[in-house]
Amino acid sequence: MRTQVVIIGGGPAGLLLGQLLQRQGIDTVLLERHSREYVLARIRAGVLEAGLVDLLHQAGVGERMQRNGLRHEEIYLAHSNRGFRIDFRQLCDSAVMVYGQTELTLDLYQARDAMNATMLHQVDQVEIHGADTDKPRVSFIHDGREQNFECDFIAGCDGFHGVSRNSVPADQRTLFERVYPLGWLGVLSRTPPVSDELIYASHARGFALCSMRSPGLSRYYIQVALEDSVQQWPDEAFWRELKRRIPHDAAESIVSGDSIEKSIAPLRSFVAEPMRWGRLFLCGDAAHIVPPTGAKGLNLAASDVYYLWRALSQYYEDGDEQDIDNYSAMALSRVWKAERFSWSMTNLLHRFPEQSQFDLRMQQAQLDYLESSRAAQTALAENYLGLPY
Ligand code: FAD
Ligand code: PHB
Repeated sequence: MRTQVVIIGGGPAGLLLGQLLQRQGIDTVLLERHSREYVLARIRAGVLEAGLVDLLHQAGVGERMQRNGLRHEEIYLAHSNRGFRIDFRQLCDSAVMVYGQTELTLDLYQARDAMNATMLHQVDQVEIHGADTDKPRVSFIHDGREQNFECDFIAGCDGFHGVSRNSVPADQRTLFERVYPLGWLGVLSRTPPVSDELIYASHARGFALCSMRSPGLSRYYIQVALEDSVQQWPDEAFWRELKRRIPHDAAESIVSGDSIEKSIAPLRSFVAEPMRWGRLFLCGDAAHIVPPTGAKGLNLAASDVYYLWRALSQYYEDGDEQDIDNYSAMALSRVWKAERFSWSMTNLLHRFPEQSQFDLRMQQAQLDYLESSRAAQTALAENYLGLPY
């Protein structure tokens, strides 16, 4: 069997790339390891940069997001029972959109169904062959049978634990990594959000975040030890701890309820360079990971997709390979800036096991500076809103 582009991974990166390419008449086959239900049950990102919002409109999948998404023009940074706003509209005349990754993924699945584009779920043993030749091929097992697709290009959109990155020979890539000694315990609950805006709270007991998915659905996180398990955190313990870490007025008005999802995510910064090997391109979490503090992971996947979409369309339009050759450098330039922002937000707002009194004073000084300086707030806002593609 043959197609133009094989996309490995049916998360947001793979689905969005497929959608953009198919609409231009470029044929794609999408291979996903899990079932659709499994992918749609994974609760992850919630904050979309304006660049991603625009890209979803360009891809023809922005309608439901436009209707149901929540435009956010500020965030609240809390510390020691007080805090201040970063006003995106005043500082940068822009905003982010709160719209769940699961909703966005559902929109993309439905759009792919409507185009009748090939999408195989529960594929196993995906292997990449000849990515450094003119005849790349992907083999896999589906419905108990081995199958093969020959193609022009392979897009590795299979997340951090996928096969694509590891198909690049070890001597052809460099990996950069920081593993943080902490995790985020996240809870989704069918309760009204405690506040209209997101609250990022720095506290002596650890970081906390109040977020949301819709007016009736809240998403909260607290920093926990990396070794902690979900079983150690029954709902009452979670709510008690969250309330201790956020400003008193928020703690008093918060509506708690049963968790409908609860999970712990480790915090990591990671980049694989380059993001291309021959005819294989890495996109999204397959190439890089950020700690979630800056809300950048999904948004970075989107900018990679944008660069790759443009490069492949150019190639199929007039055979021009210039953007293909530039893909890795262009994507990485944006990736490293988002890595820096996510790392700095993480360092600013969390408590670390080995922190000295000096380190704590540095955090405090940074927060004080942010509160008092429009220039510092503008820098934060510019990065949170997303650097241009
Ligand atoms: P994934 O979503 O991981 O998708 C990869 C897909 O490939 C998966 O469906 C997987 O099943 C499939 N796959 C894996 N291996 C194979 C294989 N061998 N064969 C076939 N298929 C395979 N980002 C933000 O921008 N804003 C946020 O607010 C935010 N919050 C987050 C909160 C949490 C708790 C977490 C964990 C993440 C958060 N992120 C956030 C990050 C964001 O969710 C990811 O960056 C995003 O999912 C990346 O998309 P992706 O398509 O690259 O990878
Ligand atoms: C979320 O709503 O899941 C979320 C929001 C902001 C972040 C991270 C996660 O920085």
